[in-house]
Amino acid sequence: MKKSKTEIPLVRYLATCGFGPRRACDRLIQSGRVRINGKPAGAGSRLVPGRDEVDVDGQPAQIPPENIYLLLNKPRGYLVSDNDPEGRPLAKDLLPGLGTRLFPVGRLDFQTEGAILFTNDGVWANRIAHPRNQIPKTYLAKVRRIPSQETLKRWKTGIRDGNAILKTLDVKIESKTRSNAWLKVTLTGGVNRQVRRMGLATGHPVVKLIRIAIGPVELGTLTRGRFRHLHIWEIRSLIEPAPEPGCTERKKPGNIRRPGRS
Ligand code: URA
Repeated sequence: MKKSKTEIPLVRYLATCGFGPRRACDRLIQSGRVRINGKPAGAGSRLVPGRDEVDVDGQPAQIPPENIYLLLNKPRGYLVSDNDPEGRPLAKDLLPGLGTRLFPVGRLDFQTEGAILFTNDGVWANRIAHPRNQIPKTYLAKVRRIPSQETLKRWKTGIRDGNAILKTLDVKIESKTRSNAWLKVTLTGGVNRQVRRMGLATGHPVVKLIRIAIGPVELGTLTRGRFRHLHIWEIRSLIEPAPEPGCTERKKPGNIRRPGRS
């Protein structure tokens, strides 16, 4: 009989599913614990993934879907949403079709540009968004006029805006002209439109806002409107607990495989 082009050795299939190296998968098959379409498999068995069903000790063996983690440099004037009744440009349309549904991690205003993460890994996204995981987000904000040191202190101690008390982890003047200042602002909370609201509440409306980092993930030289895949150490460190007090750097693990890849 002619072999199907998509047929692969069972041993390779099991290794891709995460049952260990090929030798371990061979042993598994030889021990009689693996079945294909309900029939015991043997050394040299082959299958067509997606058509044939494999089980090990009665539990389905499936190739894990590949997880994708992207950083997009969102331009101003793009909406972070699945759709828009007003037909405005969508940030997700700047991403490639990867055969999986990608969703944003958190928000970024229509008029704000910069770093936003997209993934198809719901567990990872939830861990990032969890209030316990206080990831600092860094912005450059161009504001009207030059705030005094007294005003910047209020940004750090807290400003009442409606029912909310808004405060930043840090804020400082990066540069200034006669009529504007660029502030570097670090937030941990996720209050809607926080930087713009703090600017308005203190008489320094924000005229341009760029998110330049999400925790250790920096926009760097990524061109506006373009994306990149996250490095494995970035994926990991975004869900690691915050460093101990006194520790200034999150560890960058090297040579680790991307989760979901065999
Ligand atoms: N603060 C804002 O005002 N807008 C954002 O998009 C993020 C933080």
